Amino acid sequence: MSTKHNGPATASTPPSTGAAGGEPAPHDSGDHLALPRTIDVRVLRQDAPGQESYWERHAVAWEPNMNVISVLQKIAAGARAQDGRQVAPVAWDCNCLEEVCGSCTMLINGRTRMACSALVDRLVEEHPDGIELRPMLKFPVVRDLVVDRRRLFRSLERVKAWVPVDGFYDHGAGPRISPEEQEDAYPLSTCMSCGCCLEACPQFTRIETVRRDGETEEAFEQRRTAAFDRGFIGAHAISQAVLFNGHPIGKLIADERMEAVTDQGGIQMCGNAQNCVAVCPKSIPLTRSIARAGRAATMWAIRKIFDR
Ligand code: SF4
Ligand code: SF4
Ligand code: FES
Repeated sequence: MSTKHNGPATASTPPSTGAAGGEPAPHDSGDHLALPRTIDVRVLRQDAPGQESYWERHAVAWEPNMNVISVLQKIAAGARAQDGRQVAPVAWDCNCLEEVCGSCTMLINGRTRMACSALVDRLVEEHPDGIELRPMLKFPVVRDLVVDRRRLFRSLERVKAWVPVDGFYDHGAGPRISPEEQEDAYPLSTCMSCGCCLEACPQFTRIETVRRDGETEEAFEQRRTAAFDRGFIGAHAISQAVLFNGHPIGKLIADERMEAVTDQGGIQMCGNAQNCVAVCPKSIPLTRSIARAGRAATMWAIRKIFDR
């Protein structure tokens, strides 16, 4: 069987020393700061999907107001490891640089978070021995810190996380939404599909499907989607189902969403560990969404019995 449900990556933890050669990192001589002039950055690299990962260390010159993306830009510009070897630039994803697009998620010092809002000075204050970067564990690695988040988007597709439209002509004014309803819906609408909630969720386990020899692209795609559809949909998708089922037009397909939310891999898999809500960078009330979806699922199941 070529569909793998992998556990966490197995690369060993790098030595947690200061600067190169095990010497403590040199520190700023000013009495106002105890920040290092160079930062020891350890990156878990992987050259291609399915290959072994390995740790690489970089010494990055400190500058004020850096975030992890600026650190990665400096590493890319230098393209040399700490021992002076020339290396291929580290690959990572980013776009908006203001915690909106959701593309720069990675594990920074062991914590799932956005690289663009991870400030270096604060990280070094918390971990004076440097910064450790690794890709998310719950998604297959494409290269270095870039992961394939296709499954995250498939979950949104499963719950039809959109308002259905039947054309692009002028529909006139939409139904009114009260300020109270807007206030209730707005936090859920800030989801940026970053995947932090999935990375932290014990029920969302990694699914990596490998293409078989001679398998067509279409057959592989179908098999991969079927594997995704057997797995847990995740807190983000449950929350989006709640958002769109509460929308006056979105609720036109509420039953289809409830079908997906209660299907295989649905809300019944949630163990209520609440890790998701603790790591969401947008502070979305995910456990409230899960509780609401749970109540709606019960009502929907009862209704289905009487509708028979
Ligand atoms: S509450 Fe549910 S979705 Fe959130 S982390 Fe726990 S199991 Fe995952
Ligand atoms: S719910 Fe929060 S953590 Fe999950 S994908 Fe959306 S923004 Fe990211
Ligand atoms: S680059 Fe868009 S969220 Fe970080």
